[in-house]
Amino acid sequence: AAPVTHEAEAATVSQGAVESNHAGFTGAGFVNYDNVSGSYVQWNVNAAQAGPATLTLRYANGTTTNRPMDIAVNGAVAASGKSFAGTGAWTSWATTTVNTTLKAGANTVRATATTANGGPNVDHLTVDSGTTQPPTGT
Ligand code: GCU
Repeated sequence: AAPVTHEAEAATVSQGAVESNHAGFTGAGFVNYDNVSGSYVQWNVNAAQAGPATLTLRYANGTTTNRPMDIAVNGAVAASGKSFAGTGAWTSWATTTVNTTLKAGANTVRATATTANGGPNVDHLTVDSGTTQPPTGT
């Protein structure tokens, strides 16, 4: 199936705010994480079938300090302290990926800041549940 983009501004936000003051985002805006450890964005993600998936997070970090986050899938950390390094400006957006496994049906993906700086500004999550599957018939 084609990758599906889930906007951060449509997700569940804990300790963060939807803003639109830095250009280059998709959709209506992005989430500005509060500058605290534990702030998070959580998306509901549907998968047609169980199997591997690539999660791509689009973000901006206008500081020169990494803002690591734990990426959890269905409550289990899939990538601990994932790096969200500085992107040069709050209007410069970059992507980083996590390979994981989804179950059939409803899944959650949560990106939680692990330092007192909070997370980067997060634009969206794209889920590609087709990329790492073997071709049919093999
Ligand atoms: C600035 C910037 C915000 C960003 C914040 C931060 O205030 O405008 O978009 O989220 O810095 O450091 O987290």
